[in-house]
Amino acid sequence: MKIVVLNGSPKTANSVTMQYVLFLRKKLPGHEFAIHNVCHDIRKLEDDPHALQRVVDEIAGADAVVWAFPLYFLLVHGHYKRFIELLFERRAEGSFKDKYAAILTTSIHFFDHTAHDYVQGICEDLGMRCFGGYSAEMYDLLKEEERDRLLLFAADFLKTVSEHRPVPRRHRSVVPLQFEYEPGKADGSIDTQSKNVLIVTDAGNNGSNLAKMVDRFRASLRGSVSVLNLNEIRIRGGCIGCIQCGLANECVYREADDIERAYAQIQAADILVFAGSIRDRYLSSRWKLFFDRGFFNGHVPVLTGKQIGYLVSGPLMQLPNLRECLEAHALNEMANFVGIVTDEAETSRELDGQLDALARRLIECATTGYIQPFNFLAVGGHKLFRDEIWASLRFVFRADHRYYKKHALYDFPKRSLKTRLTDTLFNILLLIPAFKRDFQKRLRDEMVKPLAKVVEQQ
Ligand SMILES: Cc1cc2nc3c(=O)[nH]c(=O)nc-3n(C[C@H](O)[C@H](O)[C@H](O)COP(=O)(O)O)c2cc1C
Repeated sequence: MKIVVLNGSPKTANSVTMQYVLFLRKKLPGHEFAIHNVCHDIRKLEDDPHALQRVVDEIAGADAVVWAFPLYFLLVHGHYKRFIELLFERRAEGSFKDKYAAILTTSIHFFDHTAHDYVQGICEDLGMRCFGGYSAEMYDLLKEEERDRLLLFAADFLKTVSEHRPVPRRHRSVVPLQFEYEPGKADGSIDTQSKNVLIVTDAGNNGSNLAKMVDRFRASLRGSVSVLNLNEIRIRGGCIGCIQCGLANECVYREADDIERAYAQIQAADILVFAGSIRDRYLSSRWKLFFDRGFFNGHVPVLTGKQIGYLVSGPLMQLPNLRECLEAHALNEMANFVGIVTDEAETSRELDGQLDALARRLIECATTGYIQPFNFLAVGGHKLFRDEIWASLRFVFRADHRYYKKHALYDFPKRSLKTRLTDTLFNILLLIPAFKRDFQKRLRDEMVKPLAKVVEQQ
C-alpha cells in the first residue's frame, strides 16, 4: 500500500511526530511511505506551482494519506494551515477525493481534540474518507504498551483501507454566508472611560464585511483606540519550534521582525478585540502564524485581567470547534471572554447593534474589573500546564517555572496539610461501620451546610 504522509512539523525529519511515522515505517515494511515536509517547505509550495502539484499528484496515486503533525496552539502550525488553504485555492480537491485519511498527532494533549476536529473537517471538505485520529503524548513512543497501541491503530486503519470499509462523516459541508454588511453611521458616542482599546485584525482594505465591522466598531468609540493590522507588520516566518524561548521568553527572531513588539502592544491594552475572517474552518493562516509566534511567552498567561472580544466574519455558527478555540484562547490567558460578534446577523442594523453592545460591555467589564469564573476550558488547561511544567517541562521552560512559582500557580491540592490530615483521619474512621453509616446518611446535608451558612449570613 502506498501511504503519503503530510508532515506538519516545521522540523522536517528531526521532529517528535516524525519519529512516530518512522517507527510505523519500520514496523510495516510491506508498505511504502512517502513523506512530504509541507509545513517546512511552505514558501516553495506557495511560490512554485509545480512543487505543490508534485505533492498533489503523489496523493492522487496513493492508497491513503496520513496527516501527521504536532499540535500548535490548539490546532496545526500556521504553515500547515497555509498548505491547507493552498489546496483549496489551487483546486486540488479532486486528487484527495475518496482517499482514506488518518490523523496522527503528538502534543501534551492540550486541545488536541480541537486540532483533530479541524483536520477531520478539512479531510471531509476535500472529499476524503477520514478514518479517525491518534493523539500521542510526545513521549509515548518510549513506552512499549504505547508502541503496541499505535501499531494496533495502524493495523485497524490499513484494514479499513484495504477492505474499502465505509467511514462515517463527522461534519456537514460549511455553507458560506451571502450577507453583505452595510454599516450605519456610528456617532462615536461610546466613551472608552480612559481604557486603551486595541483592535488586532488581518482585514484587508477591500470593503469586506470584516473591514466594515472593524471600521464601524472603531468609529463607535470615543477615546484611545488603536488598530494593529497583521498584514502591515513584519513576520519573518512561522514558529520553528526551537524552544529557545523557554529560558527567558525571548524569541530567536527578536528584532528581526515585529512579533515581540506587537505582543508588547497587546499587553499594554486593557481591551482587546481580535478580528478575523473565517477561512476553511478557522481564521486565516496569517492569524494562525501570529498566534503560534506568541509561543515565546511560553505557558505564562500574558493577558491576565484583560477584556477580550472577537469580531468574526463567516459562518461561525456552523463551526463550534472554532468558537471553542477562540473562547479557550481568551480563558487560558486568564482574560475575560466578553463575546463574539459575527456577520451572521439578519440585517445590518442588527449587526450595528451587536457591535455597539459588545463595545459597551467591553468597557463596562474593564471598568468593573469583571472576569468570568473559569470553566473547563481554562481550569483543565491550567491543571494540564501546571502538571506538565512541574513534572518535566520546567527544565526547558525555565521562565514558566519561575512564573508559576512566583504566582502560586503550582496549586496542587495535595499540598494542603488540612486535606492530607482529613484524608488520613477519614481512612481510619470509615473502617468503623457505625461511622460509615452515619457518614453516608449525613453526606447530602453536610455538603450544602457551609454554603447555606454563607447565604444565612448575607
Ligand atoms: C508554538 C507551539 C505551540 C504548541 N501548541 C501546543 C498545543 O496547543 N497543545 C499541545 O498539546 N502541545 C502544543 N505544543 C507542543 C508540541 O505539539 C509538541 O511538542 C510536539 O510533540 C512537537 O512535535 P514536533 O517535534 O514534531 O514538531 C506546541 C509547541 C509549540 C512550539
